[in-house]
Amino acid sequence: MSILVTGGAGYIGSHTCVELLNAGYEVIVVDNLSNSKKEAINRVEKITDRSIKFYEMDILDQKALDLIFKANDIDAVIHFAGLKAVGESVEKPLLYYRNNITGTLSLLEAMSHSNCKNIVFSSSATVYGMNNISPLTEDLPLSTTNPYGTTKMYIEHMIRDTYHSDNNWSATLLRYFNPIGAHESGTIGEDPKGIPNNLMPFITQVAVGKRDKLSVFGNDYETHDGTGVRDYIHVVDLAKGHLKALEYTLNNKGVEAINLGTGTGYSVLDMVHTFHHTTKQPISYEITARRPGDIATCFADTSKAKQLLNWETELTLEDMCRDSWRWQSRNPEGY
Ligand code: NAD
Ligand code: UD1
Repeated sequence: MSILVTGGAGYIGSHTCVELLNAGYEVIVVDNLSNSKKEAINRVEKITDRSIKFYEMDILDQKALDLIFKANDIDAVIHFAGLKAVGESVEKPLLYYRNNITGTLSLLEAMSHSNCKNIVFSSSATVYGMNNISPLTEDLPLSTTNPYGTTKMYIEHMIRDTYHSDNNWSATLLRYFNPIGAHESGTIGEDPKGIPNNLMPFITQVAVGKRDKLSVFGNDYETHDGTGVRDYIHVVDLAKGHLKALEYTLNNKGVEAINLGTGTGYSVLDMVHTFHHTTKQPISYEITARRPGDIATCFADTSKAKQLLNWETELTLEDMCRDSWRWQSRNPEGY
């Protein structure tokens, strides 16, 4: 069975390609390498001893997508390709709307032309906005606080409307919580450009000596130690969740939004302390002001994923810290 993976050279995409190849799927990747390197694909091939058909291409180029669907017998698409930096999306909203929304439109049209109507889409817990109380269930009202989040919410609507117009479509909208960690080989991982926005890559860059200290954004939240609480999930567990979602999508028509998280929240200071005791790397930090737009607590209700996908996370916070550190320490400059 052949799966088209858009954005397959990226952080979550590359880990998902490993799981797909190990499970025996044929993998075709389309990526414009705007936030990744071809080396990630080479390393996935090395880990799995399998090959990937790679197209360096923009999903906005619908004619090229049509040709890919013509040249390959594609059974389903896993759609990761998109821009994901919240701050940048506030500065350049049109770039985000064009890349993420028009890119997905182009993909859905190409899928429609070729009669491939099975899609797993990378959504985000960001669609729950600021007002819902954790644990977050999939039926809560959606809202967003930045253009990045809005693109995810609109794409969910676009996919639902597509199904309503043609019930032959089958789509799973995966709402990820906070993916961290890396493949246990230490050869693929998250490779952010510039100063990391997210917590774990910042911690590992402090540990490796690239940054002086972590700024902890606020210690006056209503949480057990005052710092923000999130649902961190190992990227390999997340990748395995995609395989379960793919099977579900191939076997059921309709559209389902499903959370992928562990269901447990950890604070920023829990992360700093667990990283230290797991890797023996102390992390210097200072408490600074809250980051605008942040919420106190965000974690998943995971019952729908258990029920529909028969999927649960297996890896611990210690595994996440150890594997993030193995990747960073062996690849201090990324790929
Ligand atoms: P990433 O940036 O590492 O991967 C995205 C990939 O898509 C990159 O390789 C990039 O080059 C490619 N891409 C972007 N625009 C493209 C285009 N127009 N045409 C072709 N390729 C394009 O990001 P990631 O962390 O692996 O995230 C994957 C998906 O999951 C994204 O859609 C992201 O919004 C979503 N998501 C990520 C997180 C997270 O914390 N990492 C959380 C929730 C949702
Ligand atoms: C961020 C995005 C969100 C996205 C999610 C997963 C923002 C505002 N939100 O959320 O849209 O879905 O990533 O990719 O960027 N922290 C620090 N110091 C740092 C970095 C983070 O204290 O240098 C804290 C944050 O305040 C938060 C926690 O660490 O409490 C996690 O932050 P982060 O990794 O950025 O994830 P989210 O805030 O969940």
